[in-house]
Amino acid sequence: MNKLSLLGVLFLLICGCSKEVTKKISVHNQWNDRPEMDIFIDSLMTEMTLEEKIGQTVLFASWWDITGPVSDNDFVDDAIQGKVGAVFNALTADFIYRMQKEVVEKSRLGIPLLFGYDVIHGYRTTFPTPFAMSASWDLDQIEKSCRVAAVEAAADGLNWTFAPMVDIARDPRWGRIAEGAGEDPYLGSLIAAAQVRGFQGTDLSDEATVLACAKHFAAYGAAQAGRDYHTVDISERVLRDVYLPPFKAACDAGVATYMTAFNELDGTPCSAHEHLLNDILKEQWGFDGFVVTDYTSIKEMVNHGSVADEKEAGEASMNAGVDMDMQSGIFMNHLKQSVEEGKVKEATVNEACRRILEMKYRLGLFEDPYRYCRPDEDKQSKIKSPEHFALAHEMARKSIVLLKNEDQLLPLNKEQLNSIALIGPMTDEQKQQLGAWHTTGQPETVTTILTAFKEKLGSKTKIYTAKGCDWEGDDRSGFAEALAAAKKAEVVVMCMGERENMGGEAASRVHIDIPLIQKELIKEVYKTGKPIVLLLHNGRPLTITWENEHLPAILECWHLGSMAGPAIADVVFGDYNPSGKLTATFPQHLGQVPIHYNMKNTGRPYNPKDHFTTRYQDCSNDPLYCFGYGLSYSSFEYSAVTLDTNTLTPDGKITASVKVTNTSNVDGEEVVQLYIRDLVGSVTRPVKELKGFQKVMIPANTAVDVSFEVSVEDLAFWRKDMSYGAEKGEFLLFIGTNSDVEESVKFELCTDADVEPYGIRK
Ligand code: NOJ
Repeated sequence: MNKLSLLGVLFLLICGCSKEVTKKISVHNQWNDRPEMDIFIDSLMTEMTLEEKIGQTVLFASWWDITGPVSDNDFVDDAIQGKVGAVFNALTADFIYRMQKEVVEKSRLGIPLLFGYDVIHGYRTTFPTPFAMSASWDLDQIEKSCRVAAVEAAADGLNWTFAPMVDIARDPRWGRIAEGAGEDPYLGSLIAAAQVRGFQGTDLSDEATVLACAKHFAAYGAAQAGRDYHTVDISERVLRDVYLPPFKAACDAGVATYMTAFNELDGTPCSAHEHLLNDILKEQWGFDGFVVTDYTSIKEMVNHGSVADEKEAGEASMNAGVDMDMQSGIFMNHLKQSVEEGKVKEATVNEACRRILEMKYRLGLFEDPYRYCRPDEDKQSKIKSPEHFALAHEMARKSIVLLKNEDQLLPLNKEQLNSIALIGPMTDEQKQQLGAWHTTGQPETVTTILTAFKEKLGSKTKIYTAKGCDWEGDDRSGFAEALAAAKKAEVVVMCMGERENMGGEAASRVHIDIPLIQKELIKEVYKTGKPIVLLLHNGRPLTITWENEHLPAILECWHLGSMAGPAIADVVFGDYNPSGKLTATFPQHLGQVPIHYNMKNTGRPYNPKDHFTTRYQDCSNDPLYCFGYGLSYSSFEYSAVTLDTNTLTPDGKITASVKVTNTSNVDGEEVVQLYIRDLVGSVTRPVKELKGFQKVMIPANTAVDVSFEVSVEDLAFWRKDMSYGAEKGEFLLFIGTNSDVEESVKFELCTDADVEPYGIRK
């Protein structure tokens, strides 16, 4: 039977009559509607050869070219032979349409391809980097930014994004910290779920949604020494308490796919980690989507030294629970032989193929293979629409963190300012504002800081500008011009930090300071005695200890995307009151790393006055800026915390309340944070753990009451016997403006309680 008639017959069988196909398939294209999908896929799979089933598990990158498919391995021909199931890095609806048509019309069964891409923080309209967005602590806004990315990517033919990256990152040397939500599992879990909701919406058959991919499973952020791709060796407890919760939250939010991590974990590369993939993900969590490897990580197992050759690598991988091989071609080249030799069960291949076909079905691709890529002006007009830019602007403003503001230098008063100097490599830069992993982001969409300042200030304020120096290197020839500009101005704004590709993949650094040449320039300008506002641009926490000591005002501006300039200008000139809070600790010195707020107490807790305690000889244990830190143009005062009861029962709740007063004349938003410490456990517990937060707008000179409910879910952890639950005993509860909050109240849990793993407050 030829392929088009086969698919047609399948639809008729399932749907009764052809006119009804569209309606019925879309009606039934819902998460819970397995029976009809199962009938369809069962029928399809009975027609498929083993090679065609293996073909579905193969993903290749397109070397995109507007003139047509170009690829090293000519995979379009392979796809026509049913040997490829998905393609990534193919761009534009038109190109994807043509490739899909080739495959649907010329292959035996006409099974549509999936089209994936790294849509990380926007598609054409570029949002701040994910790490920057996490500093907003604004789940709705983060969800909306992913929605915009999905709408634009889907309008351009894509139906699968390799995002969100939900890796917890506690090491600022690791460049990929820029792609995630920072160091905290609780906040990271909530953000992961928001991102999945944003990309996938509520119904995958909606053409404006794409499959999301939670990556990199797992513990990639724990790479030793912060070196990318490096070994990970952590306990099962740390894995479960710290690194897995955001992945589980993504699963609970219905994420369609997972990507394995490059690293090994406890001696086994993650792309062959049966415990992670088959046991935890598929069996314990009941994940019913599919698992793709990260790039050539199956092949890389030979370098890891866990298998002798590529064929063995493929077998280890498929047997461990991988469903799709990205780019290494190993499933394509070896899997059939492995099945014939009995090294991989045919049922295992069937299972992988089924999971992939299910996602194609859920996207509605069997109903209409061209639904994403059919040229559609209406959908295309949404790409870079004014609404999307407005959301990118709002997201960028919310991501900015005020780190220092001595004598309320900020906001600058634009009415009274006669002159200003803008100095530094980011001053008039477009591309660098796009940030790491901007992929399809276009520099021309970016409004620079200089452009935005000119617009904000008009002609009455003189703006002197000078780049001063490059991001790195030793060329000081621009220093003189920068110093001259500084001397002429009332105030100096310095736009400094990291180039976008100093963060992201393969971008680990051993110096996490502002690059030396820029630092020298800052020090020279400082000598002029002019007030300096430092705008920091970076993808990771930096050790800006000198700057914090000497400069009066510092704004953490990350890489903020298309609307970076307007967002920064709004904050600098007081049209927006900053409310961002750091989601990873900024160390004073690199030697303190790893440093994160939720560390253990140790047997000799830190005491600067006692030599034999856990400390350094040459630096305090304090971070430069702690997790949750961020200032505002408003000032907030917290009352003591009150509890409605001091005793918690397993099915009860404690309400913890605090009064937060905005003691300033400026309306402002505050992220009110709740932390808990379990004083005694069957295993040692962190000194503090974030367990709740609320972002509240507090009008000037006004107080608001903020309450949190605490239940056993908030107290649960992986106990000594590796069961999950809370243990009776005493707890400290803190509510404050950042993780350094000291005042606490005590409460008691009256009995042990088992808890469903990873219950998080909704
Ligand atoms: C490698 C990266 O680790 C991963 O995050 C990305 O999705 C793939 N390459 C595909 O580009």
